[in-house]
Amino acid sequence: MHLKSQESLVTEKSYTRADWQGGYQSLTQEFDYWIDDIEGQIPRELQGTLFRNGPGLLDVNGQPLHHPFDGDGMISKITFTNGRAHFRNRFVRTTGYLAEQKAGKILYRGIFGTQKPGGWLANIFDFKLKNIANTNVIYWGGKLLALWEAAEAYRLDPYTLETLGNEYFNGALSPGEAFAAHPRVENNCYQDGGAPCLVNFSIKPGLSATITIFELNPAGEIIRQHAHSIPGFCFIHDFVITPNYCIFFQNPVIFNPIPFALGIRAAGECIKFQPNQPTQIIIIPRFPKEGQLEIKFLETHSGFVFHHVNAFEVGEEILIDSICYQDLPEVEPESDFRQVDFEALSPGQLWRFYLNLKNGVVRRELIESRCCEFPSIHPANVGRSYRYLYIGAAHAETGNAPLQALLKIDLESLERQIWSAAPRGFVGEPIFIPRPGSLKEDDGWVLALVYDAAHHRSDLVILDASDFSKGVIARLHLRHHIPYGLHGSFTCEVFGEI
Ligand code: CO
Repeated sequence: MHLKSQESLVTEKSYTRADWQGGYQSLTQEFDYWIDDIEGQIPRELQGTLFRNGPGLLDVNGQPLHHPFDGDGMISKITFTNGRAHFRNRFVRTTGYLAEQKAGKILYRGIFGTQKPGGWLANIFDFKLKNIANTNVIYWGGKLLALWEAAEAYRLDPYTLETLGNEYFNGALSPGEAFAAHPRVENNCYQDGGAPCLVNFSIKPGLSATITIFELNPAGEIIRQHAHSIPGFCFIHDFVITPNYCIFFQNPVIFNPIPFALGIRAAGECIKFQPNQPTQIIIIPRFPKEGQLEIKFLETHSGFVFHHVNAFEVGEEILIDSICYQDLPEVEPESDFRQVDFEALSPGQLWRFYLNLKNGVVRRELIESRCCEFPSIHPANVGRSYRYLYIGAAHAETGNAPLQALLKIDLESLERQIWSAAPRGFVGEPIFIPRPGSLKEDDGWVLALVYDAAHHRSDLVILDASDFSKGVIARLHLRHHIPYGLHGSFTCEVFGEI
């Protein structure tokens, strides 16, 4: 008997699936209020605005979506001023959102499996794309932009979150041209005399893909743009930059367009992972000289990467830290994402890659085996060597599980600090915010939304980035939940209540 109880302790999970599922209910309401239910104290030096994006609706008028990545983008905004915080959320009024809300039913096929009702006959040869603007939100060049990787950005009012329309950057982008959801901001661009620079990309898929790089100045103008043809199908969500390069991991997948065209499967369900093929690393110079486009292709182990942490150059080498999965599970047409068997999937793990540009050799080493995803670093260190990273992580050290904890890793000492919201809390992407005037890399705060299943609501937690062992220094209880989101960003601009 004694042995048996020991055993059940070891296999006990840190969460229940029913609790986790609560965070995937739609939020239909839009709110505006000062957050008054707070444990602890909001640091007075924390001034600015946190914007977050993610699918707000997981159904259209009761018709469930097949995958959360198909959900309409909803922006949440928390403004910090003088030790207080104000909350507002608004759906991005995309063409598709407005049309479906008016019709009260699903009108578009989703990339990740949502089909229009009516079976394959209703979906055959329907290539109409719904730009759901649900993946990231950034404030750059005086514009607040909601991003989705397969189409153009939507511009919003940073105060009211009102949707203002699509953003084409003074005609530099044409309608339908994508602006990816993972821009990187270099704090100090040598090409621009030390000014900050935002670097982003777009992928035009096909049997061979086109990757276009965009570089924007602080006024929000595209000042550099170059396109490159890449052999093979590209399913690329994120990239990294260094002072001289943009680096992409071309995951080993193939795309079979026939079931998609026939309306049997969604585009995302036609992607097949190739476990015996290497990952191709694409290195594109950021400042190609006239007529000389020296793209380098290197190879590493098979695997799948959604997100990179950071990259930097050391002599002949580029070092890249990335979250890698052993494989990409196929999105099955009959499956329900709410019933996912976490234990059957491979966890995301943090690896460091060393790319030798001289001899083309790629080495890699495992930094963190605990299941983790959604990294954040000090914003001044993008593309530079750095010491600390913050990341969502599973509560347990081994196995695959929902993110319930926040992990800080010191890449020099390899010391870890962890704060966990288990058993009933589930965390989203953490964001590191430096304390104004700070000199130490980890002097600042880590902010994250935590879904609290016990109260079916979300909290915004604030941790002292230099010491997670203090626990949360402030926990702001929202009056409702926010469905699990994707990415967000912080700006020191205070877009207060109006
Ligand atoms: Co992402």
